[in-house]
Amino acid sequence: MSVDVGALTLRGPILAASGTFGYGTEVPLLERRALGGMVSKGIFLRPRSGTPPPRIVETPSGMLNAIGLQGPGVEALIRDYAPKWAEWDFPVFVNINGESAAEYAELTARLDGVPGVAGFEINISCPNVEQGGLYFGNDPRAAAAVTDAVRKRTRLPVWVKLTPMVSDIGVIARAVEAAGADALCAINTFVGMSIDLNVYQPRLSFRTGGLSGPAIRPLAVHLAHQAARAVRIPVIGIGGIATAEDALEFLVAGCTAVQVGTATFVNPRAIAEVHDGIAAFLGARGLSSPADLPRYLPRD
Ligand SMILES: Cc1cc2nc3c(=O)[nH]c(=O)nc-3n(C[C@H](O)[C@H](O)[C@H](O)COP(=O)(O)O)c2cc1C
Repeated sequence: MSVDVGALTLRGPILAASGTFGYGTEVPLLERRALGGMVSKGIFLRPRSGTPPPRIVETPSGMLNAIGLQGPGVEALIRDYAPKWAEWDFPVFVNINGESAAEYAELTARLDGVPGVAGFEINISCPNVEQGGLYFGNDPRAAAAVTDAVRKRTRLPVWVKLTPMVSDIGVIARAVEAAGADALCAINTFVGMSIDLNVYQPRLSFRTGGLSGPAIRPLAVHLAHQAARAVRIPVIGIGGIATAEDALEFLVAGCTAVQVGTATFVNPRAIAEVHDGIAAFLGARGLSSPADLPRYLPRD
């Protein structure tokens, strides 16, 4: 079940998606054998309290969230979580966030070399913050500048998480590839809104939120596929994966690995079930590894 994401070999093709697995401290309670790796909740340099509640709304086949990147800040992450990660048998990537390229660079420099930190997932795609977030993910020059700033501060793997809120994801994908990204993660949530008819107001205090879950899967498969067609570096598919078949769609569409997010809230065994289902699918078809799956990836 192992896969190569650039120079890094993961023991399996499934990672836990950022923000849906906390800092992984509950992992000992779950079936960790199925985890190829995990991505931490997004972190900023300094502690943040996030947005006021309500922060989560259930929607058809999905949910809207506006957590606003609540977090303890980088020093607490290094003190409280990284030592635990260093003892685990799968790599932990840190989802990094900033309001400027310089902040992303400072965060990377602070985390580089800390035992337990296996690499970085640059979040240039959070819809739930006033500063940064989507701004970097929408503009190829800003996306490349952030990637370049991080790349210069570390030799660990650098992944860039793309937003679906663009007219051509291939343009952003190519820009961050040229700036030195080792892999792309596609995609983060879509911006959505839900109205409470009792009060004629949005249900989320932030007004809008990020839509995730099975509702976004066909959109996500398409965008991950478009990103994979645009670049030579690996693409990690994300968006609405709840079953092995869902994950296999992303792999056949050109992804090297996948992340599972919202499904874990519904079913804590989701990652294990996706893992075992992929293994069964490969076995039934005489394929010896996920890399042997036929890919549908026509190049323009
Ligand atoms: C409650 C919640 C918090 C999230 N927090 C983050 C985050 O901190 N950083 C990030 O890059 N993505 C974050 N995401 C986005 C997920 O990692 C993922 O890209 C998205 O939810 C789509 O995948 P899914 O449909 O499997 O959940 C969050 C998603 C949810 C539902």
